[in-house]
Amino acid sequence: MLTSLSRSTVLSGMTFSARFASTVKIAFRSGDWGPEEFDVPVGTVLAKYIVEKKMPNLKMSCGGDMICGRCHVHLTDDLFAKTIEAFPISEDEEDTLDDNDRTPNSRLSCQLKVTPEFDGQEIIIPVE
Ligand code: FES
Repeated sequence: MLTSLSRSTVLSGMTFSARFASTVKIAFRSGDWGPEEFDVPVGTVLAKYIVEKKMPNLKMSCGGDMICGRCHVHLTDDLFAKTIEAFPISEDEEDTLDDNDRTPNSRLSCQLKVTPEFDGQEIIIPVE
């Protein structure tokens, strides 16, 4: 039988594990490649994940400093609306997007962390 202290430790341990192990399913495509679905850990910087998985047409040439624009992605209307409050577009991001064939749902993926709202969404990596 668990004491209240050990029960709380077990419960908080489960919560801790579930919180950091959770993933969301995101489909990616770029030109003729994809869509391919990935289980992406919540909290991951989107651009880093895309580069790590060697998806085509995306790089982090400036390391996330909003200078290169090589991490440009197009979000769905739904995902753009759901993420804009948590990750507002800064002036630097605006300027870089304006230099990189911006669409209404363009974002620099180096400025986005994966949240539960990304689950079931599709992200397009524009062809250079
Ligand atoms: S990595 Fe250069 S703008 Fe995002």
